[in-house]
Amino acid sequence: MEENKTFAMPRIGDKAPEFKAVTTQGNINFPSDYKGSWVILFSHPADFTPVCTSEFMTFASMEKQFNEANCKLVGLSVDGLYSHIAWLRTIKEKIEYKGMKNVEVNFPLIEDITMEVANKYGMMQPGESSTKAVRAVFFIDPNGIVRTILYYPLSLGRNFDEIYRALIGLQTADEFSVALPADWRPGDDVIVPTAGSCGVAKQRMESKEEMTCYDWFFCTKKLDKETVLKAVLKK
Ligand code: BEZ
Repeated sequence: MEENKTFAMPRIGDKAPEFKAVTTQGNINFPSDYKGSWVILFSHPADFTPVCTSEFMTFASMEKQFNEANCKLVGLSVDGLYSHIAWLRTIKEKIEYKGMKNVEVNFPLIEDITMEVANKYGMMQPGESSTKAVRAVFFIDPNGIVRTILYYPLSLGRNFDEIYRALIGLQTADEFSVALPADWRPGDDVIVPTAGSCGVAKQRMESKEEMTCYDWFFCTKKLDKETVLKAVLKK
């Protein structure tokens, strides 16, 4: 009888599980090789599949933008190294899609035939597929802590503008000790920490400071785009 194994997955705030892996850019020791950088560790279901190809081309085309925000990309699927190499060569040599062509994937793509890493990160979700990883995205901060997790099914490609927005949002929240409202983008108003005492709540509502309070618990202030980008993009 086949054992139905369940695997824990890391949660927001956990230390990113450690692993050693073979990748298309050599061996890596994760997350220690990435100390001091943000990392986006993401899985895809399989090489030589259309949705994954569109995603890889998009991510590779945006890699410089992510690197400028002190973020490295690391991909994974449960395919082998030679399949990865052949697929990435095909993408570069043959695929032209939405104006992207000659796209070289320079970030590491992990081979994970044993599913060891995929299982550590909860990327195998048997209800969706027992042989392919789902489309998971882990945002890991420079101290190796998981800060955001996104999961998509096999049939739906990810939104890479949202992945970039989330990265800049996480960095902005850290840098300026603020929270960010729905659909926030750099240049939009940010949320100041909720008043933690009656005194501060009263002060907020009566304050003539550059703050907009919708009520005592919901106050925003301006944070211009230039200030945000200067803080989060590599100087
Ligand atoms: C794709 O990337 O196109 C794909 C991968 C696995 C299942 C379905 C679609």
